[in-house]
Amino acid sequence: MRFNFLAAAVVAATFSACLVQPLAAQTAEQLTFIPAGGKSLLVNIANTKPPADELKALLTGKRSREEWVSYFKAHNQTVPALQRLSDKQRLTLADYLSFHMPLPSNQVPANLARTLPKDGRDLALDNCQGCHIITVVVTQDRTKTAWLGTMSTPAHAVIKMTPAERDELASYLVLNAGIPIEQVPEELRASGATY
Ligand code: HEC
Repeated sequence: MRFNFLAAAVVAATFSACLVQPLAAQTAEQLTFIPAGGKSLLVNIANTKPPADELKALLTGKRSREEWVSYFKAHNQTVPALQRLSDKQRLTLADYLSFHMPLPSNQVPANLARTLPKDGRDLALDNCQGCHIITVVVTQDRTKTAWLGTMSTPAHAVIKMTPAERDELASYLVLNAGIPIEQVPEELRASGATY
């Protein structure tokens, strides 16, 4: 790990500042550079109005990530939105489905966006902005084991997340973090660039 004293100082400063007042929340627009999680990808597919039985099958199947990827391939004629996913998005969606499907109700809820459980991106935005800028997180390229290690350091073990949520967040970050600093809006670069 490259470690930069200045960056460490910035994290330390923002960390102590957060004891006094929370960091200013970033606007949704500033954060669009962070890739969509499985929930948004699934809602987008539902919005393309696939055949009802195809949508139901996505919400009620129980498969591993690899099985979901093959399932997408077999169904991409009937659900063209599946074809338009990039490789990374396909894995992110497959990962999400493997964590959360079948839905407990075993049917298609009326308001998907409201009903579906949080995805990895939601978990990152909800849990990883309280003490430092999200850039510190999403610019790191790490293995799943390394991410789980990061989340169990003394600074992070205190975060209220279940083991399942930590696992899901780590999986999302393996696929979607490691964002090059040039893709981060300038105002969010300060403390994330140099780890
Ligand atoms: C309770 C405050 C707090 C929250 C919330 C928090 N962090 Fe941190 N984080 C820190 C502190 C303090 C440091 C600098 C010291 C250190 O590295 O542990 C840090 C540094 C980091 C670093 C850079 C240092 C390293 O390990 O390479 C990463 C990556 C990181 N955090 C990831 C996360 C993730 C992922 C989340 C959300 C699950 C998160 N942080 C939420 C306090 C927090």
